[in-house]
Amino acid sequence: MTTIIDQIEQLYADKGCGQYGEAISQLQHALQCAELARQAQASDEMVAAALLHDIGHLLEDSDSEFGNVDADRIGARFLAPYFSKQVCEPIRLHARAKRYLCSVEEHYFATLSAASRYSLKLQGGLLEQDEIEDFRAEPFFPLAIKLRRWVEESKQPGLDAGCFSDYRAALQQAML
Ligand SMILES: [Fe+2]
Repeated sequence: MTTIIDQIEQLYADKGCGQYGEAISQLQHALQCAELARQAQASDEMVAAALLHDIGHLLEDSDSEFGNVDADRIGARFLAPYFSKQVCEPIRLHARAKRYLCSVEEHYFATLSAASRYSLKLQGGLLEQDEIEDFRAEPFFPLAIKLRRWVEESKQPGLDAGCFSDYRAALQQAML
């Protein structure tokens, strides 16, 4: 019987070669991000969140050359019936985490890739003060920030970070 993990693995095999304006494929970006979570000895849920954070880009057709502007919410909605909130919530919040970090850390914007700088505008740009406070009040705020920092570091061309099946056990553990 095909499981949801099989289906997700197939989705990355079929559609993970797209680049969405970055210098590496979605699959390599996902694997590098999961590897960073693993190196940080993060929970299986956070490893799963790192691996699947951009699944929304693979699920729906792009609405720009940088992928779908709603990819964070599309991905979280797709995963919610199968994976715990510790997986889905950091994913849902990861674009807002970028907007937050650009708003509160002076040098953060300079660390973004060109595509990520461009999509910042599409995602709504910097946060207002009340939005900053609302975001800090999100229960998964710290995990969204943690995920965001791995996301930014996982765009390194030529860095081999293993294969999707290396993460099947972590995905299994992170399921509801
Ligand atoms: Fe990403």
